[in-house]
Order: sequence, then structure tokens, then C-alpha cells
Amino acid sequence: MSIPFIDLKTQYRRVAAEVESGIQAVLQSGAYINGPEVARLEERLAGYCGTRYAVGCASGTDALMMALMALGVGPGDAVFCPPFTFMATAEVVALLGATPVFVDVDPTTYNMDPAQLDKAVRAVRKADASLYPLPLQATGTAGPLTPKAVIPVDLFGLLADYAAILPVAAEHGLFVIEDAAQAFGATSEYSGATRRACSFGQIACTSFFPAKPLGCYGDGGMCFTDDPELLELLRSIRVHGQGADKYQNVRLGITGRLDTMQAAVLLAKFEIFEDEVRLRQEVAARYAELLGGLPGLTLPVVPGGNVSVYAQYSIQAESGAQRQELLERLGKASVPSSIYYPVPLHLQPAFANLGYKPGAMPVSEAVAGRIFSIPMHPYLTAEAQQEIAKALAG
Ligand SMILES: Cc1ncc(COP(=O)(O)O)c(C=O)c1O
Repeated sequence: MSIPFIDLKTQYRRVAAEVESGIQAVLQSGAYINGPEVARLEERLAGYCGTRYAVGCASGTDALMMALMALGVGPGDAVFCPPFTFMATAEVVALLGATPVFVDVDPTTYNMDPAQLDKAVRAVRKADASLYPLPLQATGTAGPLTPKAVIPVDLFGLLADYAAILPVAAEHGLFVIEDAAQAFGATSEYSGATRRACSFGQIACTSFFPAKPLGCYGDGGMCFTDDPELLELLRSIRVHGQGADKYQNVRLGITGRLDTMQAAVLLAKFEIFEDEVRLRQEVAARYAELLGGLPGLTLPVVPGGNVSVYAQYSIQAESGAQRQELLERLGKASVPSSIYYPVPLHLQPAFANLGYKPGAMPVSEAVAGRIFSIPMHPYLTAEAQQEIAKALAG
């Protein structure tokens, strides 16, 4: 049996007729840019996430970039983000000339640790790296950076701890940009109500990269907000800072539109999305049963009140050596695996100019040395999971 890491082919067979008729309609219409499918998708997904507005865009990275631009983030600003995430989260901050300030993650959920966020903001305000490890730019002669925004990431499909993060952000006057690239469809109990991913912060961002819980057949992304002024800014930034008409440019922007064809694909795939979230829960429950007894493994922890969409099923080994052994066993059994993420962002060469040293973010570094991900998708069969468990058990 060949086991795919993510099975997009089986999913395609389920939605083929709807996807193909949706694409055909776009082809026939000629409205390849900004066709009516884009607005229809924005309305549908905003309704699903519980926000007033949504703005489709070309990728999750562009969604983050547009959010930072709409909030006026630039040189001299500190933007707090976790180092244990995909490159894009901090990359967009640096691309805009602002400074990423890393905040270590919680060892159980792998999401940003709210207590450390508070410490990091205080350290930036005082320009004092003895209070919390800071980038070189935060203690330079240019004066302290301005704490401007925080980007909590909903890693592997589990929402960050917004009940704890939002009050810290409010106390320090930080904008919150939710990076929900991996968590579209996840929910959490918040203030006595069920809240969905993409409904936290001034602006939330997601990705429709094919491997994401809701993926299209190319690149795509979306911003979500309740604020009509931010909506106008995001729409303007999406198309070169356009003003009242197409050839009036009132600010700098990007080419950030979502293709009509991808919107049509997403409209078709969204019809089965809730069922897929349910299937992901079944797959995760079977993994918990099959792998729960294996020595040294820490399975994903989903705190009470949360539903994860398991963008990845990530397991922590007790050591780097055990991980190596497990990955070899999986390889021998032809079971695909992956490491998200082997090097935390504060130690990536691209961020060498920030001057972080090994040891600065101990939890992220320890987790990066031990974590690995195994196949996870809604169509994973019990038999395939048994085979994966057998390979892991050795
Ligand atoms: C946490 C996180 N943020 C941002 C992105 C960027 O999304 P995209 O690949 O659509 O640009 C990703 C995608 O992998 C991600 O995982």
C-alpha cells in the first residue's frame, strides 16, 4: 500500500464534477481577474468564520503582508512573532523594514507563550535584552523600537491561546494579526462562545496553498476583518494602492488578487469542508489510540474547548536520536514523513542580521530537534494508520 502524506487525489475525485463545472464557468465568462466567484467566496468564508468582511488574495504570505501594510507597520516597529513557524510569518515583517521580535512557544501546544509575549514587549520598551532575548536592532543607538503588533500563529491547526494573548496585546496597545494559514476551520471556546479561526485580531490571515486544510489548486489566501476602514485599506493595497478608480494610486500596494479560477475551486471544495474537518477528528482519534502506548512519544495536545484541524499531525520524540530512528523506520516501511520545522526562524541565515544566538528560544529549539510529522488528511484509512503505527513501533 502506498500511503501519501496528504491525499489530494482522493479528495479531487470527490469534488471533480463541481470543481470542473466551476472552472468551466470561469473559462466561459472571461472574467479571469475579479470575477464574481471571488466576491461570492469572500462572503461565504467571512460568514463561516464569523467576521464582517473577507478580502481574497494571492497567497497566505500576501495576506500577512497586506495586513501589516494596512496597519501601517514599517521601519522602527517591533512585531512579535513565534520563531517556531513557517518562514512567511516573520519574513513579511522584515520585508516591510520592521523588526521581528521572537517570542518563544509553549512546550505543549507549540503556540506563542502569552507570558513571554508580555516579557518581550517590556524588554523592547526598555531596550533591555537582559529582560528577554532581543534582536540587535532593539538595543541599538537608533532608540527603542516601537512595539506595534503581534502575529500569533495557529500552528499545525490549533488556535493560539487568544484568551491570554489578547489582554496582553491590549495592555501594550499592540495590533493583533492572526496567522491562521494552518488553521482554517479550527474552533475554540472564547468568552463563553465558540469562535472560529480567522476571527481573532484586527486582521486575520489564512492560506489556501493546496496542502492546507482548505486548499485550492495553486496559490491563494485571504484576510478577514470586522473593521470597514481596514477593509477599504486591504482592498486598495491588494491592487497597487488603488483609489477611487483604477488609475488613481493613493498608496503603495501589491498585485495581491486571488485568481477567479482558484475562487471557483474553493467554492466547490468548501461544500465538503466541514465533513473533512469531521473526518480529520476521526483520523486523529485513531492515531491517539494506535500510538498512545508507544514509549517516548508525545502526541498532539488539544487543550479543552478547542478543535484542531490537524494541518499536520506532529509528534515529539524524546530525543533527536529517537526521532532519527523513527524516521528511518518510517522510511523503510515507505511511510512518508516530514519535519516542521527543523530550524526555528531566529537561527535561520536569513535572519542572521537580528543577531539571535542558539539558546535564545530554548523551547522552540528543543521542539525543533525532536518533532516530526506523519501522514494526515481526511481520507487516511484505518488500515494505513495501522501500517504507520506498526512502522513506528518497530
Ligand atoms: C504559518 C504560516 N504562515 C504563512 C504561510 C504562508 O502561506 P502561503 O504559502 O500561502 O504564502 C504559511 C504557509 O505555509 C504558514 O504555514
